[in-house]
Amino acid sequence: MPSMKAAIIGFGTVGEGVYKIVNEKKEQLKKQTGYTIEIAAVLVKDVTKKRDLSPDIVVTDAFEDILNTPDIDIIFEAIVGEEPAYTYLSQAIEKGIHIITANKKMFAKHGPALLKHAEFRNVHVGYEATVAGGVPIIRTVENLLAGDRIKRIQGIVNGTSNFILTDMRKEGVSFKTALQDAKARGFAEADPTDDVSGGDAFYKLMILSSLAFGNQPEWKKVSVVGIDHIQADDIVEATNADFRYRHVADIRKNEDGSITGKVGPVLLEPDHPLYNIDGVDNAVIIETEYLGALTLIGPGAGMYPTGSAMVADLLHIIRQQATELILN
Ligand SMILES: NC(=O)c1ccc[n+]([C@@H]2O[C@H](COP(=O)([O-])OP(=O)(O)OC[C@H]3O[C@@H](n4cnc5c(N)ncnc54)[C@H](OP(=O)(O)O)[C@@H]3O)[C@@H](O)[C@H]2O)c1
Repeated sequence: MPSMKAAIIGFGTVGEGVYKIVNEKKEQLKKQTGYTIEIAAVLVKDVTKKRDLSPDIVVTDAFEDILNTPDIDIIFEAIVGEEPAYTYLSQAIEKGIHIITANKKMFAKHGPALLKHAEFRNVHVGYEATVAGGVPIIRTVENLLAGDRIKRIQGIVNGTSNFILTDMRKEGVSFKTALQDAKARGFAEADPTDDVSGGDAFYKLMILSSLAFGNQPEWKKVSVVGIDHIQADDIVEATNADFRYRHVADIRKNEDGSITGKVGPVLLEPDHPLYNIDGVDNAVIIETEYLGALTLIGPGAGMYPTGSAMVADLLHIIRQQATELILN
């Protein structure tokens, strides 16, 4: 049975999720792909931290060790921020290694360049996990683009914000208390700035814009508002009038070809598809020319949903390679 050698960059929530799924589903993956998937090396910041990893796996804090591991076919990237992730992935592509990333902050800015570079080097890029975690939004948009035209995408793409707004409404608590609750339950980072300020949703929106429309609006022209200014009284007032606050990322292509995006809290009426999306779930509405509107709902984050999106990318890449072999 042929094998595929992989490395994982970043062994936190997401990287460990990938590792666990690849191990737990080893036999299934073998049956589905015809390959044994072997995790050969892991890159972390702190090599002294204790990790639940097989002893034959190289654990390093030097990316050269990953690149120098013989015959690496694929890299799963799950570190945080633009750099050094972009540099590492560029180097991997240059070496002919397929890449799969969950890093939306990096991919919003550098995704178009990485995709172009990958095409030139004849390797594949998976980025399903960058938007809405376990919700297969990227693959769905790709499929729709084959025979349709996307007009607009809007959605709740930040589970932390949605949890906080839900908690404020259901429990009648302040933003601060709801944020503490989100942290206590593991739904918010120690530093939740990107989540509650709208930054995280903005990065995801830009990734969707590139995919759906082949371009992004000028970043400074996109209004980005978070939920941190919403008061408990605002929520009560909205609820009494049968409205709900949702934090919505919204991108559309206008008739003149321009792209307009915005991110922020909006008041929705009960017949809106996002009105009933509570808690940490994400939901994305895709509006197309032929299909009308399609709504996808599911977990937007977490070890297994995100890890499984990355493993699904791996399967997709293996299938793409098989098709290319037949065609060439
Ligand atoms: N968490 C989610 O549910 C989720 C969902 C979708 C997408 N994402 C994205 O996935 C990525 C990872 O998120 P996470 O929640 O797994 O983060 P995390 O738990 O903080 O883990 C980050 C990992 O990356 C390693 N790391 C950070 N900087 C590094 C560097 N410069 N060189 C080498 N290793 C480095 C850390 O090493 P140490 O262990 O040594 O500190 C850690 O293992 C982020 O880009 C995030 O936006 C996360």
